[in-house]
Amino acid sequence: MVDQFEKILSEAELQRARRFVYPEHQRSFILARYGLRQILADYLDCAPENVYFQYGEHGKPHVDPKRHATSLRFNLSHSGDIAVLAVTDTCEVGVDVEYVKKELKALDIARRYFSPKESAALESVSLTDQQLAFFQGWTRKEALLKALGVGLHFPLKDCEVSLLPKEPAKIISVVGHPEASHDWSIYSFSPKDDFIVAVVMTESNDNWEVQQWHH
Ligand SMILES: CC(C)(COP(=O)(O)OP(=O)(O)OC[C@H]1O[C@@H](n2cnc3c(N)ncnc32)[C@H](O)[C@@H]1OP(=O)(O)O)[C@@H](O)C(=O)NCCC(=O)NCCS
Repeated sequence: MVDQFEKILSEAELQRARRFVYPEHQRSFILARYGLRQILADYLDCAPENVYFQYGEHGKPHVDPKRHATSLRFNLSHSGDIAVLAVTDTCEVGVDVEYVKKELKALDIARRYFSPKESAALESVSLTDQQLAFFQGWTRKEALLKALGVGLHFPLKDCEVSLLPKEPAKIISVVGHPEASHDWSIYSFSPKDDFIVAVVMTESNDNWEVQQWHH
């Protein structure tokens, strides 16, 4: 592990990093946490090693309110050499980035985990569009569940989203959250060829700003 990272990550993060079996997973975790600390430190006006986290019941990290007087919220996702961080200061936020795997049996997975309406929509388009639509649906659902902090404990069928390439990103319904379809916001974009990102905020918002950070 590189000194530069060791100085900034906490002992718990370094221990977690050492447990990864594959070096590329270790590298992805370390770089994401390093970037996370650098960016949050700017918002919190402190040193990156002095950013403290607290974890929700299902593992969602938050800025620790006992250590920082702030309403800042964030969520992180990583895939391959891409990490995406969403930051807000007014409501919960969830983000997911996925690589669009061409070989994935998208329809089989959708039939099992998506709602009947969503898998019927997937069946209605060409094979190429199907792969993109599946990952648009997947990232939107996962971003939603990450905003709620429940992760994949929540059935994917119980949160319906738009997924076809020609449709705008939209939350259709979330079981237990009737306000989601009109009060929450969803944003979807491609940060790089073959990668898709979705971001969900638990309030209405049209004011998204995307910044790129290279390391
Ligand atoms: C949250 C979850 C959907 C992430 O899935 P993923 O596609 O593997 O990973 P992503 O890259 O998109 O997101 C990972 C990041 O989300 C954040 N995260 C972790 N748990 C989270 C949760 N419950 N809600 C929102 N965000 C969460 C973390 O910042 C994590 O990054 P880190 O591992 O570097 O700390 C998945 O881990 C999950 O369902 N967790 C629920 C709890 C659980 O089953 N945990 C098993 C581990 S014991």
